Amino acid sequence: MLIEKIKSYICSVFSLTQILLNIKKMDAIDWSNLSFGYMKTDYNVRSHYRDGKWSDPELETSEHINLHMAATSLHYGQEAFEGLKAFRGKDGKVRIFRMRENALRLQSSCHGIMMAELPVELFEEMVLLAVKKNARFVPPYESGAALYIRPLLIGTSAQVGVKPAKEYTFLIFVTPVGPYFKEGFKPTPMVIMREYDRAAPLGTGTFKVGGNYAASLRSGEKAHEMGYSAVLYLDAREKKYIDECGPANFFGIRDNTYITPKSESILPSITNKSLMQLAEEMGMKVERRPILEDELATFEEAGACGTAAVISPILRIDDLSENKSYHFSKNGEAGPVSKKLYEKLRAIQYGDEPDKYGWVTVLE
Ligand code: PLP
Ligand code: COI
Repeated sequence: MLIEKIKSYICSVFSLTQILLNIKKMDAIDWSNLSFGYMKTDYNVRSHYRDGKWSDPELETSEHINLHMAATSLHYGQEAFEGLKAFRGKDGKVRIFRMRENALRLQSSCHGIMMAELPVELFEEMVLLAVKKNARFVPPYESGAALYIRPLLIGTSAQVGVKPAKEYTFLIFVTPVGPYFKEGFKPTPMVIMREYDRAAPLGTGTFKVGGNYAASLRSGEKAHEMGYSAVLYLDAREKKYIDECGPANFFGIRDNTYITPKSESILPSITNKSLMQLAEEMGMKVERRPILEDELATFEEAGACGTAAVISPILRIDDLSENKSYHFSKNGEAGPVSKKLYEKLRAIQYGDEPDKYGWVTVLE
């Protein structure tokens, strides 16, 4: 009993020391020049699924997970994640963008790879707790940066045969981030590499599971080495239609129309869904349909969109093996429609414009 008490006392002193050290480090954070990377914050939040029930959320200061070596997440890829952001407004308030949508998409991923589904309410409660407990890490309004929220759900129980786990852990960590593509809102070149696929048509492309990202690593690295910011994947079946980028959806602009792929192997992006609504309200036509690669030649503007990428305008797309190039930016700047959509989205996220869509949750 006494030993337990001493242990718990040592742990709290240790956590407090860590937090004090973090506060000291925060003075040094250059908020305006953050990259999209990991930085330790004070807390993460966890819940465990055992005997058919999710536990109440627990606050945790350790960055590590104690995992069974035969856990299904390690062997059979039973893991799904999410990505959303919290923004600090001019008024100092913290706003979280469309967290319910992320909760629903996580449920879809869980269903897709047979993991225990997390209730939407628990997801929301844990996001709010994670942000509240790390509120000091939400970047200031002026920096243009945001707090990235990374929920993760993994199979934890041991299995050697290929079967779903019986136990799961859901956790959320947060980290302050700048732009995903270091150029930010400046157009960058992307590449089509026909020798790689990211996801199969009836595979896991519509779910946010780690295996899709593992499948994109080799082509992604090769693209970076060649000076491209990302790979633009074609549909794996026919290699004729545009699918999406490694970390974001694709859109093109032509004749006041917002055009984005409909495909059975891409992630349903919440940013893209929001942009489609904003485009419509700005008086544009919106088309979600298969896009032939050849159609790229007709687009006035093109971009990648996602939570991390926000809108990343595309300068040019090279199809290496076909020896083709499609150009979208004449002066190296983002086009006017992409700019307008970007500004509108950011204004809602940072609270510069009223949230008439109910997309934003303001932290109390
Ligand atoms: N596509 C892929 C493969 C992604 O990883 C992401 C990022 O989450 C997106 C699209 C964009 O989705 P969202 O706008 O919901 O972040
Ligand atoms: C996001 O935009 O949230 C993503 O998950 C993309 C990438 C960092 C994997």
